[in-house]
Amino acid sequence: GQRITTGRLQALKGERPVVGLTAYTTPIARLLDPHVDFLLVGDSLGMVLYGMDSTLGVTLEMMIAHGRAVMRGAAQACVIVDMPFGSYEESPARAFANAARLMAETGCSGVKLEGGAEMAETVRFLVSRGIPVMGHIGLTPQAVNTLGGYRARGRSEAEAQKIAADAAAIAGAGACALVIEGTMEPLAREISGALPVPTIGIGASPACDGQILVSDDMLGLFGDFRPRFVKRYARLDEAVSEAAASYAAEVRARTFPGPEHVFTAPARRDTGSGA
Ligand code: KIV
Ligand code: NA
Repeated sequence: GQRITTGRLQALKGERPVVGLTAYTTPIARLLDPHVDFLLVGDSLGMVLYGMDSTLGVTLEMMIAHGRAVMRGAAQACVIVDMPFGSYEESPARAFANAARLMAETGCSGVKLEGGAEMAETVRFLVSRGIPVMGHIGLTPQAVNTLGGYRARGRSEAEAQKIAADAAAIAGAGACALVIEGTMEPLAREISGALPVPTIGIGASPACDGQILVSDDMLGLFGDFRPRFVKRYARLDEAVSEAAASYAAEVRARTFPGPEHVFTAPARRDTGSGA
């Protein structure tokens, strides 16, 4: 079949909800691919896969390696790769050089970057030079140090107005879609109604044109911390713990490996040639 393009994603607005999930590896990409419109190789991988306490330490090399892995497993989904912190903020030219590396070295369909009006010039620069861009506004985790934590955005009228202006600026600069993260429902609804491109919500209410979740959250791979907006569709944490406990118990009891797991040499025939 044909891979969904960023143009097709954009055209889904008003037609049907856009479905996204994160993927970081080939086997997970292969499993999710038939079910989604796009797979995001999110810089959340720094926290989810590498145990970092923010996304700030994620490098372009990490994004390229995981982008390549996901592309090997994705046949039909549009694959978008996050630009990591420090790879695009300084200038449009630097953003282009790094986005071009992501595109060329992974084969992905587009990149995502965080930010509002201050990034509009960069979005326009990339899009006009052949790089589809997905925006990301509201709660932007790469700005955790200036925004002060991961609380939901758009509570105050001033903050809501700024985020609405950011959304309009990024869409106006040519972004194919816009992730809205951790944002109050009325604001997400207002932005979704105003923009010509699909909004993709995560913790931003059903008023968005589509939704995305971090797959590891949705699959229940973490027991400890679960934000309000995450719904667990599976409990892989329990499945993994139970599997590991069973394996350990069977090795200790010498019931694994069983006869069916053993390579047995063909029975030796007595040739009668011996003494
Ligand atoms: O990095 C990520 O997984 C993301 C999604 C939460 C939108 O940016
Ligand atoms: Na991200």
